[in-house]
Amino acid sequence: MAEFSVNAKPVSVADDHPHLLSALRDELGITSPKDGCSPQGQCGCCTVIIDGKAQISCTYPVAKAEGREVQTLEGFTDDERSTFSQAFASCGGLQCGFCIPGIVVRAKYLVDKKGADLTRDDLTRHMGAHLCRCTGYVKVFDAIEAVAQGTEVSVALPTGIGASGVKYEAEALALGDRGYIDDMAVEHMAHGALALTEHTRADIVAIDTAAAQAAPGVVAVYTAADIPGELKVGIIYTDWPVMIPVGGRTSYAGDVLAIVVAETRRQARAAAQLIAVTYDVLDPVVDPKAALVEGADIAVWGTDTNELSRSVYARGDTDTALSASAHVVHEVFRTQRIEHAFLEPESTLAVPTGAIGSADRSVYVYSGGQGVWDDRNQIASLLGIERTQVTVELVSNGGAFGGKEDMSNQGQTALAAWLAGRPVKCTLSREESFLMHAKRHPIEMEYWAGCDEDGRLTGLRVRMIGDSGPYASVGMKVLERAAGHASGPYKVPSIDVDSVAVRTNNPVCGAFRGFGANQAQFAMEGVMDRLAAKVGISGWEIRKRNVIKPGELWGPGQIMDDGCLGAETCLDEVKDRYDAARAAGKIVGLGLGLKNSGLGNGFREVAGAVIRFRNDGKVEVRHGWTEMGQGVHTVALQVACEELGIDPDRIVVIVDTTRELGFGQTTGSRGTLMAAGSVSAACAKAIEGGCQPEVDYHAEHIVDWTAKLGDPDNPNPIIHAAFGYATQLVIMDRDTGEIDEVVAIHDVGRAMNPLLCEGQIEGSVHMGLGYALSEDFPSDDRGFPTNMTLRSLGILRPKDIPTITVQLVEVPQPRSPYGVKGVGEIGLVPTSGAVAAALHEFDGEWRHTLPMRRTTVASPSASPSPSPSPTPADANA
Ligand code: FES
Ligand code: FES
Repeated sequence: MAEFSVNAKPVSVADDHPHLLSALRDELGITSPKDGCSPQGQCGCCTVIIDGKAQISCTYPVAKAEGREVQTLEGFTDDERSTFSQAFASCGGLQCGFCIPGIVVRAKYLVDKKGADLTRDDLTRHMGAHLCRCTGYVKVFDAIEAVAQGTEVSVALPTGIGASGVKYEAEALALGDRGYIDDMAVEHMAHGALALTEHTRADIVAIDTAAAQAAPGVVAVYTAADIPGELKVGIIYTDWPVMIPVGGRTSYAGDVLAIVVAETRRQARAAAQLIAVTYDVLDPVVDPKAALVEGADIAVWGTDTNELSRSVYARGDTDTALSASAHVVHEVFRTQRIEHAFLEPESTLAVPTGAIGSADRSVYVYSGGQGVWDDRNQIASLLGIERTQVTVELVSNGGAFGGKEDMSNQGQTALAAWLAGRPVKCTLSREESFLMHAKRHPIEMEYWAGCDEDGRLTGLRVRMIGDSGPYASVGMKVLERAAGHASGPYKVPSIDVDSVAVRTNNPVCGAFRGFGANQAQFAMEGVMDRLAAKVGISGWEIRKRNVIKPGELWGPGQIMDDGCLGAETCLDEVKDRYDAARAAGKIVGLGLGLKNSGLGNGFREVAGAVIRFRNDGKVEVRHGWTEMGQGVHTVALQVACEELGIDPDRIVVIVDTTRELGFGQTTGSRGTLMAAGSVSAACAKAIEGGCQPEVDYHAEHIVDWTAKLGDPDNPNPIIHAAFGYATQLVIMDRDTGEIDEVVAIHDVGRAMNPLLCEGQIEGSVHMGLGYALSEDFPSDDRGFPTNMTLRSLGILRPKDIPTITVQLVEVPQPRSPYGVKGVGEIGLVPTSGAVAAALHEFDGEWRHTLPMRRTTVASPSASPSPSPSPTPADANA
């Protein structure tokens, strides 16, 4: 046993925990320190104070804690707890909240040490051990400064739309009190651990579970042979096996072969290592171009072609237009695969009810997925039971960004609980998370673009090949979206686009914030700057001459509505800053982008919501969207306050499958738009019905007027019902090449909550800069990813972030509730193009490949390339 004190109370714990964090969370039930990457020690979520110093607890040996004083957020004084939680809530210093408890602990250490002398520079240096994937650190540092300065803050919830109020549950999130799934425990709960394949393409000859079954604490081991229903799931195509059976074939490094259920997490994980698998190893298919050649090996078990999808459309005579153009650019652009790196690894808790074999059995699943109705339907199919026997409750997750759309371990966990007849929780390690969920597509994009002597676009031909990995996920939709956004927010008289998604044995790719629009617009913005240089006009001027306007034909032929005035407005709004920076001798790079809001492409989108006045005085707002940090619960609350005229403290926001409210994933920047529309409609229903107690007032918001991509007979194919628009200006120091500032001017239609909206954009810019400069998730010739730690992903740390200045523009979107446009994804769409333009002006080199680690720098210390690794000093004080 190891003996020490936690929050001034003596404790003794088993001394065989892998680290102090494990002892705190798994044995002592102290859950404010979060586990984002143990034992990597690279995210800072697990920070605690040991003998007065801030320390990473997932690398801290339990034996070393002997005799020491450990302090966690639970042990802060009431004053400290309220000061920090209120500052973070008031300043908008958190989104998903998963990283925040660790940051608060280090912030307390720094504030105690430096008080009002704590500077922004201090924070930049000392927060190097902490990753935040949501906020871009801007408002996090605002909050810490507010504490250090003793600034008075307000923590009022927003009272209606357009009000800057604090995020729903913000204070509890800041303190780590609002539990994530891995923080939850129920009676008789067992733990699940997965056994993953060792080969990306191999026939499974045998799976021997005997040693695992006999291991200490093991309750059961389940394989595909135990699945009572359908083996395969998927949110569009059902091609993704929940486990690979004997006689089946693996298709990527994240394939699951078995789940072990044991009394403790450590026992389950140890036993999973004992599963012996006999493979017949095959050559993996890792080159997407080679995969398309006739006769190539088929990458994925159960399929007969490696071409997952092809999206094609054309308008006008592009060949003639290009040959008649005054200037033509021909370039091949390549973007990289990247990892979402949401801070909370995937976790599921499944609780069965009813005796095994009885007719009234059901299972209750806590999921952090982006579509709890899809989770429910897939789990029911897997278990071979009715959907009514499965309830899925959303537990707001610690970040997702698209990476939690497909089920990760929900299926295996529900299966284990169902078969074992007891609750099972399964939480992925950071490595398992990397291996299993879908990434951002690497896409090769060949562009031919022409313009006249004035720089007006004449024609555009685009050929795209995206490496989608093995299973469909939403890969075909990503390449379709890339195709649709190929021309950016510009008017192009003739266009010819062909975009292919290819199945390979590399990591699976799917939804990731931007959904193909980022890749396409990195290329298109590169084309615009190259054409501007040929014509001899500025980057701003060529965009101004070509920006799409209402009534004009956009890309796939859609006649744009008044909402698209936002593009030119953003461009006009940036002009003064653009000119001023140039006049000051700075380098500037400009990006202009658009991103659809909603699924579009002919999909009928329906979102339901329920308003219920409870007898206890509370008002339930039930909707169908996943809260993953973006603030959709807060939007739902604001709409209800606005429409019902009630106090925000009365509102309880709930997402579960007990009401039929869902229609697909929280994706495509549509959560705010669709939630606002459906909650508003439900409020109207409630008012009409007299707001009777304990009555469900249900209403829907429907978008059913979009059209399929590539229909030549449709004179106005409205591919998307709404778009967000943005201009981003990268201002770089001419001598050092440092990015001084990113100015992000965003048309959001209507800023429902300006504070949270700004925070979304700041976080997006942070992610966009990483995408542009440094982030990468490559795989080797066996299809296995090579960057398997958070540090190796190249995510920018606080010291790498320039000043981010956000300006919101409100050009209302016709036919959209309150005129709102989505903001979830657009924030990083223009960024890489703007950075590429600035780097070109710095050294004269055109960039065509991401990430753009700059090769020519003025001096090593001046490099804008990030140094993502925290120093030991960062990590330990
Ligand atoms: S969980 Fe300890 S640093 Fe990430
Ligand atoms: S708020 Fe920091 S990771 Fe989400």
